[in-house]
Amino acid sequence: MPGLSIYTQQTVLAVPKPMSLISPWRADFPGILALAAEGQTYLDSAATAQKPQAMLDALLGYYAGGAANVHRAQHLPGERATRAFEATREKVARWLNAPSAQQIIFTRSATEAFNLLAYGLEQRLQPGDEIVISALEHHANLLPWQQLALRRQLKLVVLSLDQHGLIDLAQAAQLIGPRTRLLAVSQLSNVLGCWQPLEPLLALAQAQGALTVVDGTQGVVHGRQDVQALGCDFYICSSHKLYGPDGVGLLYGRTHALEQLAHWQLGGEMLLHTDYSSASFRPAPLGFEAGTPPIASVIALGASLDYLNSLNASAVSAHEAALHSQLITGLQQRQGLRLLGTPTVALVSFVVDAVHHADLAHLLTEQGIAVRAGHHCAMPLLQGLGLSGAIRVSLGLYNDGSDLQRFFSALDQALELLQ
Ligand code: ALA
Repeated sequence: MPGLSIYTQQTVLAVPKPMSLISPWRADFPGILALAAEGQTYLDSAATAQKPQAMLDALLGYYAGGAANVHRAQHLPGERATRAFEATREKVARWLNAPSAQQIIFTRSATEAFNLLAYGLEQRLQPGDEIVISALEHHANLLPWQQLALRRQLKLVVLSLDQHGLIDLAQAAQLIGPRTRLLAVSQLSNVLGCWQPLEPLLALAQAQGALTVVDGTQGVVHGRQDVQALGCDFYICSSHKLYGPDGVGLLYGRTHALEQLAHWQLGGEMLLHTDYSSASFRPAPLGFEAGTPPIASVIALGASLDYLNSLNASAVSAHEAALHSQLITGLQQRQGLRLLGTPTVALVSFVVDAVHHADLAHLLTEQGIAVRAGHHCAMPLLQGLGLSGAIRVSLGLYNDGSDLQRFFSALDQALELLQ
């Protein structure tokens, strides 16, 4: 992105609201309370979210109530575990508005889901075919395609960003063409915190008959997503950012798209029949879930989704909007501080003129402020902006005004030392 600048000069809101914002859900998250008791202010939910008590209870409940493997046993504990495991698949399908739970594959991470797709589609791509991504992709949505392109002599096409940090649609219209076989783009950048114009992008790819992959790992956290309305072929997200346990990635696929995937990890419970010389495999989802899956985590994710479903969705959105506005307003009042892009959710990255991000991160860490600093697994994006790193603040529904107050006071102290 030579010469591109996406540092925003946003309008400073005239009257900053007082830092009195209270999260009614904070007490549901023992982790945030434990960290606060230790003097830690957790502002890194985009890396991983804290967990509700309901999820911890489900995790312990599975083990304490008698662990058993799924899909294998007819005994009572096995049947119980299978029912709970499959109930989560139904809940995920409802959460994403997938037509059927059979279109949800559990992987061990979102990263694994991208690798599954790259492997599963490899034999369908021919030398000269094009895979289109964008300049803001997380490494998980870059490296599997980049390496696939190298293996198969494909062309990796990278779409640029406009001055707001949005994928440039005019350029996309030129670069997405008859050789495009796959478009893989993020719904919400983990660095820039802005929603991407997926509808026109996907339409461009679909007009060429290309498959479409949406990285929803950050988007799924900031409001309900509807994969049918999006119309993508594949949607990937992870449990641990969605207030669930780690060790679980979610891959949604349209039926015709899932049918195009070659089976990748091979092993127990993913096959229909085998002898010593050949095998036939199950269709999705089980055909892509070889070996013992993360049973406890999948069951506990179901409890996280139940918890999220029990909340008043508009109250959660209003809380996030208030956090976002206080965060942006406060940041823009600090001299020399520049936001990256035009963040529209409570996930904001910034740099400060003449201050190295690592020095600032160090001083924030010393004051008990847990933010993420560095390239955020989007090294080419940062490089394109001429940066080696940035500071990112990302908030969860348990954060409140007191967290922001502590952050800004620590930031001011750090900047006083550094500027
Ligand atoms: N992808 C996660 C992040 O952005 C880990 O921090």
